[in-house]
Amino acid sequence: MTPLRLSINIDHVATLRNARAGTHPDPLDAARAVLEAGADGITVHLREDRRHIRDADVERLRAALDAPLNLEMAATEEMVAIAERLRPADCCIVPEGRHELTTEGGLDIPRAGAFLAEAVRRLSGAGIRVSIFIEADRAQVEAAVAIGAAAIEFHTGTYADAAPDARAPHLRRIAEAAPIAAAAGLACHAGHGLAYDSIAGIAAIPDISEVSIGHFLVGQAVFEGLPAAVRRMKALIAEAREARRP
Ligand code: PXP
Repeated sequence: MTPLRLSINIDHVATLRNARAGTHPDPLDAARAVLEAGADGITVHLREDRRHIRDADVERLRAALDAPLNLEMAATEEMVAIAERLRPADCCIVPEGRHELTTEGGLDIPRAGAFLAEAVRRLSGAGIRVSIFIEADRAQVEAAVAIGAAAIEFHTGTYADAAPDARAPHLRRIAEAAPIAAAAGLACHAGHGLAYDSIAGIAAIPDISEVSIGHFLVGQAVFEGLPAAVRRMKALIAEAREARRP
């Protein structure tokens, strides 16, 4: 089975820093700490309102880190131009609502408008691997292939936010969509809302090659420290992967 990479979303380290309008805690220090603890990459979401990660953070992370940087962004001219200039390893295109607390669901690709395909073309042309954040749905997978995406990230929020005994149908949807995406040649990622008690179901899906986890781990850092939380998440991933080994 392919290894499952863990990319850590450090947006909320920036949220904490911004609460006092200062420089501590520094997202770059957090990135270094989680990579040292075994994370495979760093994810940041540069939002239109810059409520957490800011342009200078992305520039510093890009300049200082050897690990893959995944830039989550809306498909707007402003964001595409930033990504073309900074050339992160990956861009994950997400829907963005100004008043949402966090990304509320996957992008509806057929309804997203013509600029989405142009964004994918321009970002891919800059050597960036482009992923689209979608619901686990065959039509969305096919639409991602049609616009030339290299990867999709399945929205796991509905699964992870459900009560443990109500998660099965949501997990089944993701488990059924993953082989469809993989057969179409897409790299299969997953993320949103994942925590210690929900990671195993996702990690047991063989076609999923990367998960992106942020809020829970930054929250857990309050109790056990960020490196320890990353190590524990990595161990849970390895355990679930091992249990699925044929
Ligand atoms: N994937 C995407 C596309 C997201 O927008 C987010 C939240 O920024 C995440 C993953 C990580 O979600 P969480 O912070 O809930 O782990």
